[in-house]
Amino acid sequence: STIIPEIEMPGHAQAAVSAYPELGCTGQQVPVATKWGVFEDIFCPNEATFTFLKDVLDEVIELFPGEYIHIGGDEAPKAQWKNSAFCQELIAREGLKDEHELQSWFIKQIEEYLNSKGKKMIGWDEILEGGLAPNATVMSWRGVQGAVDAAKEGHDVILTPTSHVYFDYYQSDDPSEPLAIGGFLPLEKVYGFDPFPADLTKEERRYVLGAQGNVWTEYMPTTDQVEYMAFPRMLAMSEVVWSGPSTDPTKDYPEFLERLEPFYARLNALDINAANHLYTLKSRTDFVDGALYYTLETPTDGKEIVYQINQDGFKNYSKPFTVESDALISSKVRLNGADLSAIKSDSVFIHNGIKGLAQFNVAPSEAYSAGGTQAVLNGMKGSSERYGDSEWLGFYGEDLTLLIQFPEPMEVSSVQTRFYNANGQWVYAPAQVSMDLSMSDEGLMDIPLELKMIDGFSHFEVVGEPVMTQQILLKIPNYGIIPEGKQGAGHKAWTFIDEVIIR
Ligand code: ACM
Repeated sequence: STIIPEIEMPGHAQAAVSAYPELGCTGQQVPVATKWGVFEDIFCPNEATFTFLKDVLDEVIELFPGEYIHIGGDEAPKAQWKNSAFCQELIAREGLKDEHELQSWFIKQIEEYLNSKGKKMIGWDEILEGGLAPNATVMSWRGVQGAVDAAKEGHDVILTPTSHVYFDYYQSDDPSEPLAIGGFLPLEKVYGFDPFPADLTKEERRYVLGAQGNVWTEYMPTTDQVEYMAFPRMLAMSEVVWSGPSTDPTKDYPEFLERLEPFYARLNALDINAANHLYTLKSRTDFVDGALYYTLETPTDGKEIVYQINQDGFKNYSKPFTVESDALISSKVRLNGADLSAIKSDSVFIHNGIKGLAQFNVAPSEAYSAGGTQAVLNGMKGSSERYGDSEWLGFYGEDLTLLIQFPEPMEVSSVQTRFYNANGQWVYAPAQVSMDLSMSDEGLMDIPLELKMIDGFSHFEVVGEPVMTQQILLKIPNYGIIPEGKQGAGHKAWTFIDEVIIR
């Protein structure tokens, strides 16, 4: 195997700028960071920086015989370049438009150097902003758009989207999971990974070199924990990348699990601390003939499922059952009397909304719509820890309207929902939401409301005198452009919405 080193530039460089202040734009002595994150102190595109980086690259080139060097390029806040007279003069002298084009200019200098040493350059998809370096290979991490854009320009690409192959994200809903950065990427979702973005033509697919799984370790203090996060998700990824994506995951995934179950003996023999969520239960609700049915499934055959409602004692599960009032449903998987899984708990809310039909003006993002649009009216709230589950719906950068229609007029006295905030991952609640209730197309009221922050979530809640209504329209503007100094600055924000509880 070949190891490809990544030497990060121009961002994630505070350690270097701290050691050599002349590499920064402020000339100030900055401290070494004591936490991980994205910091404003980045390399200045000056002569000292290029001399330094070329020195470093010379050493790295000697150490790593492979043909590629990764130069990072991600998460470089541009505030210091904006405020630097040196950078602004450089932008003017080189005829560049802005700081993004300056980053592109920076990366092009480095690519030219690497190419002159017989090496090829890889960079994260931010290197597309401001124009790609002529021979660069792009690693698409913030989704797959970077890969699509780069391949359409004739550049090689490597797929490593957060949505499917970030193994530092949570893999289970279980509250006892070790602390992770956030996100939610269960094994099944990894197995559903398709390294070829749908927007690529057959011809353009030849630019896809392959895929990469990422295991950033800042939350992982031990090798055991790294193994726990990587296994078995890297096995699922390896299969779909090596053998081609599954065209029928509902059939192929259980089959993969059947092969994976005995593979644990091999992982154990190798002393690999693999996670085991193979018996994880999936739950679902369906509103049928005026009743809410609750369904439990475990992905492998031959297991028993037991459940209890409001802790009234476990009984065997055989088929979907109806839920009549708000309930805490706990369940687990067993085999021959022994527990195979941790307990799964769902709070089910019986409210008027479950009789309604949810329609958004735009479709949720494919990566964050596992429960379908009706997930906002299915009686189940999303996880408070992970927005990637099948209850949260995620939308990128769009102003939303959510129309909820009932088959007949009904009395409504309260409407509530909540929005996720995970600003490090570009997820922002809207600043304000407004609501219309109507019997017909005629709006009865238009109530703009500030959202209340409770436990890190932005809550929307309207409570009033009961009114009869047949439809409810929620207007949910996107947060807008992410401000300077934050991760994703200059880009639009994601909106994640949870269950809309209507009483
Ligand atoms: C990345 O995860 N910042 C590439």
